[in-house]
Amino acid sequence: MRLGQPRSRLEGSPGHPSSGPRPAISLQRVGKDFRLDRGTTVRALDDLTLEVEDGQFIALIGPSGCGKSTALRLMAALEEPTSGAVLIEGAHPREAVRDRRLGVAFQDHALLPWLNAWDNIALSFRIAAQKVDEDRVRSLVELVGLEGFEQARPKHLSGGMKQRVAIARALALAPDILLLDEPFGSLDAVTRRRLNLELQAIWVEQSVTTVLITHAVDEAVFMADRVYVLSPRPGRVSLVREIPFPRPRDRKLTLIPEFHALTDDLHVALDTQATPPDVLGELE
Ligand SMILES: Nc1ncnc2c1ncn2[C@@H]1O[C@H](COP(=O)(O)OP(=O)(O)O)[C@@H](O)[C@H]1O
Ligand SMILES: [Mg+2]
Repeated sequence: MRLGQPRSRLEGSPGHPSSGPRPAISLQRVGKDFRLDRGTTVRALDDLTLEVEDGQFIALIGPSGCGKSTALRLMAALEEPTSGAVLIEGAHPREAVRDRRLGVAFQDHALLPWLNAWDNIALSFRIAAQKVDEDRVRSLVELVGLEGFEQARPKHLSGGMKQRVAIARALALAPDILLLDEPFGSLDAVTRRRLNLELQAIWVEQSVTTVLITHAVDEAVFMADRVYVLSPRPGRVSLVREIPFPRPRDRKLTLIPEFHALTDDLHVALDTQATPPDVLGELE
């Protein structure tokens, strides 16, 4: 599915012949080893292959420690793969980072405690050494429903509000790609459902390619165009499910049998996976 305006730079930028559309994100047979003390290594990812099309919303689910965050960190150029290739719009992810085409929000929202909500969002411009676009910040405040809380510091914001600030900040520079690592992980179920709806509305409006890591299967099915289940470490794709429900999706979707059939499939895939082999010397 493609939403909003096609992005002209995808139609063949320098060094990338325009031989048809290429995926926004591509992981090709990616392996990632971490070296631990005493020379032992942990294989976090093994032969992970996935593709995200331009404007698509995908969700990654999998057991704790299977390498989901590692996969996202590879997409954000925060790690290098040990083997295989990670490409963003056909190039090394560092190019997308350099051009501010990636927006990232991690689980621990990482807001600066001494800045209010407005300034935490505006920080994206400052980090990029750009003039703060006040209109853009204002529209993001509205988009994530934080009007009236612009001056509040993080300690005076609820968990859901802090997550909204983090998402607004990730969107500030109008990225092509949004990477979300369990952004709703620490929230109560009601707030989480509300933010799911809000994020979907934001996503439709902003037309941004999105990768959402979540451990909530229903959240993945509700939000995504496609869900990848990762195996226990070393993570690789154990199941892919296309999610065919039309958008906009609302809460009634979660009541229909097709929704339950899909979430059941995914739960079974998660529950029947083998537990990871022990790794000598691993610190966990
Ligand atoms: N910087 C690191 N150094 C050593 N081991 C790491 C590092 N980052 C992740 N790991 C290990 O890689 C595996 C996958 O971690 P992670 O990607 O955080 O999993 P998930 O996000 O699915 O819970 C885990 O065993 C974790 O301990
Ligand atoms: Mg993680």
